[in-house]
Amino acid sequence: MTVERTQPGTEGRKQRKLRRALWTVALVLGLSMVLPLTGMLLTSDTTGQALAQQQQAQEEAAAVAKEEQQRRDFWRAAREGTAGYTAVSGQETNVLIQSEGEVWRAVREGPIMRYGGIGLLAVLGAIILFHLIAGTVKLEQRSGRTITRWTLFERVIHWYTAILFIILGITGLSLLFGRTVMMPWMGKEAFAAFANVAKPVHDWLAVPFAVGLVLMMVPWIKESLPKAYDFAWLKMGGGYFDRSKHPPAGFVNAGEKIWYWLLFFGGIVLLVSGFFLLFPNFGWERGTMQLAHIAHAVSGVALIAFSLGHMYLGTLGNQGTLEGMISGEVDELWAKAHHNLWYEEVMKHGNPKEASRGAGAGQPLTT
Ligand code: HEM
Repeated sequence: MTVERTQPGTEGRKQRKLRRALWTVALVLGLSMVLPLTGMLLTSDTTGQALAQQQQAQEEAAAVAKEEQQRRDFWRAAREGTAGYTAVSGQETNVLIQSEGEVWRAVREGPIMRYGGIGLLAVLGAIILFHLIAGTVKLEQRSGRTITRWTLFERVIHWYTAILFIILGITGLSLLFGRTVMMPWMGKEAFAAFANVAKPVHDWLAVPFAVGLVLMMVPWIKESLPKAYDFAWLKMGGGYFDRSKHPPAGFVNAGEKIWYWLLFFGGIVLLVSGFFLLFPNFGWERGTMQLAHIAHAVSGVALIAFSLGHMYLGTLGNQGTLEGMISGEVDELWAKAHHNLWYEEVMKHGNPKEASRGAGAGQPLTT
């Protein structure tokens, strides 16, 4: 009897092979399912991390923006002059920024410097031009006899105040225009050395000048009051354009009266504003100091411009005028030509200025 032994063995092997193949396919399939799943797990983890990072970045950006906005609000409030808290005691110490300071700087560096500078140069140019065209008003003849015009006190106080005015004018202008005009040609070091002297000189001479100005102006107030004939003098242009006629004038003429009153009111503005600037420790607010500075600069520059005209007319412009302010005496013919009404008065009633010296008291002058 033959036993078919190969059949069952082959069959078993086939089945085992099939099972192995099935398991392999299942494993491959399973793995191919699981692997992407692990990928998904991994990517889902990094996406979460990225989201968290993104959120953190957004929060940080929002915090920075908030901080910047707070800083902007703070400086805006500071620029509006909002008062804050400070432990420092004193005027306005709780106001960090006073924005009007920028307006002040713009006015100082703009109109004051521009128009002030142009104005001064224009006056200087006009005086030179006038002198070149019209020339000196000559004293054609001298009588040889003199009249006392200015007392010793008047002359001393005039020159004392004038010299202080000139020094204050030069130092003041150098403080205003120094940086733009002087520094470029002097150099920084030389200008710094100059300004270091100019500033204290300007400060220290202010009080002696104020005293001189008051002592000079008060006694001259009566002679400087306007009179009807002053209009005729003005209408005739002071006789500077048509020299054949002598316009009417008392002890001082209308032009001198105008200079007097400009100096009177301009001097008040100059001294009051200067007082504020000289004593900041009295607790003025910054706005007050800025106004005082502008008033001081404007009145100072204007008075310097008018003083140029005065200096010209007192020297080169009119022959014989300066000697009056030096010696106190003027020639009779000078008095007749320039101050006819005063001259007639002196001829009729004598000269009160001579009376004050004790010479010729109350005696009419003989011609
Ligand atoms: C170098 C500069 C100056 C010269 C040469 C000068 C010359 C004179 C002369 C000659 C007079 C007499 C005028 C007359 O007899 O009618 C006079 C008067 C006078 N001066 Fe001066 N002066 C100078 C500067 C100043 C300054 C800086 C001031 C003011 C701060 C001033 C204020 C006056 C006043 C108010 C009078 C009286 C009114 C008048 O005559 O205009 N002077 N000056």
